[in-house]
Amino acid sequence: MASQIIEKLKWRYACKKFDPSKKLSEEQIQILKDAFNLTATSYGLQPLKMLVISNQEIKEQLVPLSMDQLQVRDASHVLVICRENTISPDYIKGHFNRVVDIRNTPREILESFEDHLLESFGAKETADVSLWMAKQAYIALGNLLTVCALEGIDACPMEGFEPLKYNDFLGLAEKGLSSVLVLPVGYRAEDDLFSDLKKVRRGVEEVVIEMN
Ligand SMILES: Cc1cc2nc3c(=O)[nH]c(=O)nc-3n(C[C@H](O)[C@H](O)[C@H](O)COP(=O)(O)O)c2cc1C
Repeated sequence: MASQIIEKLKWRYACKKFDPSKKLSEEQIQILKDAFNLTATSYGLQPLKMLVISNQEIKEQLVPLSMDQLQVRDASHVLVICRENTISPDYIKGHFNRVVDIRNTPREILESFEDHLLESFGAKETADVSLWMAKQAYIALGNLLTVCALEGIDACPMEGFEPLKYNDFLGLAEKGLSSVLVLPVGYRAEDDLFSDLKKVRRGVEEVVIEMN
């Protein structure tokens, strides 16, 4: 099993050219939605939302906002990982309400941790909270990349886009969101030259330090 996972991770690559005629099924998209929602986040606060764009006109209009990268036009779906614009006290309380509802945990057991989060988020600078939220988006990206690899779905992680223009075009401010990362998903084109290239990585011996 372990070696199968490594083979799948070697199979995946940042897809440069998607086959526009091949579409992912609803089941495949559901797996990606579930994987996104199951992503681990700091404190479990999930300060993220994900847009799933399949509309061809919208995908085409994303090209100039994405450094002219055509993956957003040709992929089956474009996932946009967004962060919340703010973490309000109500947002934090909402999380603890869910814990009570789902786990039947008595509120008094959670109270001190809830108070701690309310206090610590209340004291943080907005920029620090935004950075913290963006980091959670990267965890979701990593999770989705691995799930895509396991499911035989091609993907291209993308920072190469203009977040402010995405926010405007996709009406994200009205949703209280900001775009952080883009992930076109679908199937590689047969003539994507990048699919056969060897992986370029530092050696495991170089990047792993064992302390015995
Ligand atoms: C956060 C992040 C942003 C990236 N942005 C882009 C991008 O905008 N366009 C692109 O073609 N590749 C992008 N890449 C792909 C990387 O260049 C690629 O993952 C890396 O070269 C390793 O190659 P591999 O993923 O094919 O193994 C990005 C990767 C990551 C993780």
